[in-house]
Amino acid sequence: MLNFEFYNPTNLVFGKGQIAKLPTLIDKNKKILLAYGGGSIFKNGVHTQVTKALNGYDITEFGGIEPNPRFETLMKAVEVIREKNIDFILAVGGGSVIDGVKFIAAAVNFEGNPADILQKRIRTEKDKSMPFGTVLTLPATGSEMNSGAVVTIEATQEKLTMGGPGLFPEFSICDPETVASLPKRQLQNGVIDAYTHVMEQYLTYPHDALLQDRFAEGILQTLIEIGPEVVENPADYKLAANFMWCCTMALNGLIQKGVPTDWATHMIGHELTALYEIDHARTLAIIGPNLYRVMFDSKKEKLAQYAHRVWNVDEQDTDKAALEAIEKTVAFFHKMGMDTKLSNYTAEYEKTADFIKTRFEERGWKGLGERQAITPEKVKDIVTLSY
Ligand code: NZQ
Ligand code: ZN
Repeated sequence: MLNFEFYNPTNLVFGKGQIAKLPTLIDKNKKILLAYGGGSIFKNGVHTQVTKALNGYDITEFGGIEPNPRFETLMKAVEVIREKNIDFILAVGGGSVIDGVKFIAAAVNFEGNPADILQKRIRTEKDKSMPFGTVLTLPATGSEMNSGAVVTIEATQEKLTMGGPGLFPEFSICDPETVASLPKRQLQNGVIDAYTHVMEQYLTYPHDALLQDRFAEGILQTLIEIGPEVVENPADYKLAANFMWCCTMALNGLIQKGVPTDWATHMIGHELTALYEIDHARTLAIIGPNLYRVMFDSKKEKLAQYAHRVWNVDEQDTDKAALEAIEKTVAFFHKMGMDTKLSNYTAEYEKTADFIKTRFEERGWKGLGERQAITPEKVKDIVTLSY
């Protein structure tokens, strides 16, 4: 097992009716920016629950944080915070609102050009950000219990990652009842995003971190079990609660400790969203299986383990079991309503592979993946296979 530190200070408050606990989590004399997205929180009663719980607090609302949050929009929130001397941010929404708030929290006290936080990947250290908490309304990203975020710069069509130990939420309220109002498409996305998060941290090569493998396999099997059902019955509390907890556990740091990780599916997928505005999870469903195909030789042992333990495949030949695992994964993605070809989303797909290859070369991303073996040339092969 590799050496590791496991630091996760987020107070995760899970369950029915927990939004009412907000006054126990935020100091009475804080001036709060209540940040939200396009307005779903007004339709499903979450806004009412939050404002009722925070009755008597000094609150300024900031709406309009878009899916795949934009740097340009978030900088407007930074202005509002400075003008009004706000000192706490409450994110109410899905991964985009929470990620947006992480950027805002980092940018408010940042000395220098805030775009550098993204373009130069400047980490936000402890005590360098504005404190914030979240009320999660969409299980998917794990952003409620991690310190990462993804923000798009509209002007340059770049979707970039950021983060640092200063960007864990102080608390996150995860009430599975918020899942009931989610559209089918977002439920499907949530399951596949979380599934791929586990795969990025699991599907590498055999190692000796035995417990982490079992954690990962347990999350994958639970998502396979409940994923198709929660899409049909999001108001079923048992399904919603398990879905929500799987998504948090998939990316709160626990399963990646002491193990090699990949993350190239995400890095390539972010480009597809930046170029064509394809939903994040759908980009992963397009790229993931083709990455496993192109990188087959270095991943086949782990693919075979995944075949045996997650899909209960009997085949003992490593290559055959590994191939079967890829096919089962694609079939699951289809069952979850994913289209797995880029040409299903855009007519302009043919230039994509060259564009992404060049972009990665310009960024100096010479070798992604657990062995740094996913070169720009391999990225081109993966994207081409995804057409
Ligand atoms: O904006 P509103 O009106 O709130 O509507 C949203 C949005 O249109 C809606 N929604 C959210 N909760 C709802 C709801 N509709 C009805 N009922 C509810 N309870 O759903 C739509 C999508 O929301 P969004 O926040 O964009 O989705 P998601 O949570 O999937 O977040 C995706 C973003 O997270 C990033 C992605 O790249 C993408 O930008 N990621 C962040 C990660 C992290 N911080 O660790 C990791 C992930 O890999 C991912 O990259
Ligand atoms: Zn993701």
